[in-house]
Amino acid sequence: MARASSVFRCTECGAEQPKWAGRCAACGAWNTLVEEAVGRSGGRAVARTVVTARPPVRLSDVGSAQLVRWHTGLAELDFVLGGGVVPGSLVLVGGEPGIGKSTLLLQTAARLERAGIRTLYASGEESPEQLRMRAARLGEETGGVSVVGETNLDNILHHAATLGAQVVFLDSIQTTYTDELEGAPGNVGQVRECAARLMRFAKETGPTVFLVGHVTKGGGIAGPRTLEHIVDTVLYFEGEATLDHRVLRAVKNRFGSVDEIGVFRMTGAGLEPVPDAAAEFLAGRHTGVSGSAVTALMEGSRPVLVEIQALASKPGFGTPQRVATGLDHRRLAVLLAVLERRGGLAVGALDVFVNVTGGVRLLEPSTDLAVLAALVSSVHDRPAPADALFLGEVGLGGEVRPVGGLERRLAEAQRQGFRRAFVSARSRIASDLAVVGIEHVGELARRLAA
Ligand code: TYD
Ligand code: MG
Repeated sequence: MARASSVFRCTECGAEQPKWAGRCAACGAWNTLVEEAVGRSGGRAVARTVVTARPPVRLSDVGSAQLVRWHTGLAELDFVLGGGVVPGSLVLVGGEPGIGKSTLLLQTAARLERAGIRTLYASGEESPEQLRMRAARLGEETGGVSVVGETNLDNILHHAATLGAQVVFLDSIQTTYTDELEGAPGNVGQVRECAARLMRFAKETGPTVFLVGHVTKGGGIAGPRTLEHIVDTVLYFEGEATLDHRVLRAVKNRFGSVDEIGVFRMTGAGLEPVPDAAAEFLAGRHTGVSGSAVTALMEGSRPVLVEIQALASKPGFGTPQRVATGLDHRRLAVLLAVLERRGGLAVGALDVFVNVTGGVRLLEPSTDLAVLAALVSSVHDRPAPADALFLGEVGLGGEVRPVGGLERRLAEAQRQGFRRAFVSARSRIASDLAVVGIEHVGELARRLAA
């Protein structure tokens, strides 16, 4: 068969383009287009090896046996998956190198194996000896997990079939390759073809496959985003590698809701689920110190309380510094301008540092009021009330707007011992907390200064 002419694919978003260009027309990323190796068989009809296609059935006849979920016992993982591992699904676990993906999956394998589910852990990054060293650190019995150091997809599928594995872990998709295609492991064509074959393997023969995908910064290596549309479920494992907390986030899930998170702590003996994340992010909080305010974020359907710290001080010399950690620095600039112009507080000449504790990132505008409360408290050097929560979006006019999911956020705060909530005066809410309605940032500044 004649070799089809080559195409170029973006390693960021996976878009296909007929010609090379410096910039991807689909996502706008620079230097991400790479030539895709085209299959020797023209890219069609490769790998139809393991076909045990199941005949069609009526929905009403689909037995509940086929709707089983396997519980890993890592409650946070089960939760993010939507209630456990769905047999026959393809799950991508993305994250930066070193964040803990291999650790998470080895622990998952160990737990499934102990629950009587046959597992195979195929690693192209570590030898069985190295995996054993990793396993020895974990505070779990891992002995039952079968491991293989292999990068050839056909060999891995062969081992999985011989073993009768019900769950296959593949670490990582970027080190796996198939002979059907030319091109080095990790290139977009290899990565996508391997993922597509694994999808067929999962759907046609029943095992669940977990894929590790390293998030890469540009270059010729295809990142997990190029696979998102192929797989059933996409989980991202995030966190600051220097901090202990790790957040597992579902961004796509055919079998559960997205935007759910699970929180873990990386310990000397592997990952430990943190069931009470709301309290965890507040742990170690010093009350009675100025420049601190608490707010409640919604992580999927779960409210999570976080502390925002601000420090405003006279600059040494030159332009005042603005440093935001866990918060978009442009948002901080907007809030500072609003505070100065609408709240009547002179902050323009001060160095300002804002930090969200626990490595959490503020993505919602509902946290504006808390950021401003922390700033006002720091400028006046007066602690904000320790038992108060701040929830509100702040507009350019200085007006404080209501936030969604207020009831759930306040209920969580109450459970954590908070007694007061500063919210938009326009919020309609019945709560057991003492609710303080704030109309304008000027009012917030006055109340906190009093
Ligand atoms: P790893 O799972 O290898 O990351 P990834 O597969 O995402 O690249 O985890 C890497 C880090 O985790 C490494 O810096 C060591 C640390 N770690 C622990 O702190 N405790 C442990 O029990 C293990 C196994 C690893
Ligand atoms: Mg790894």
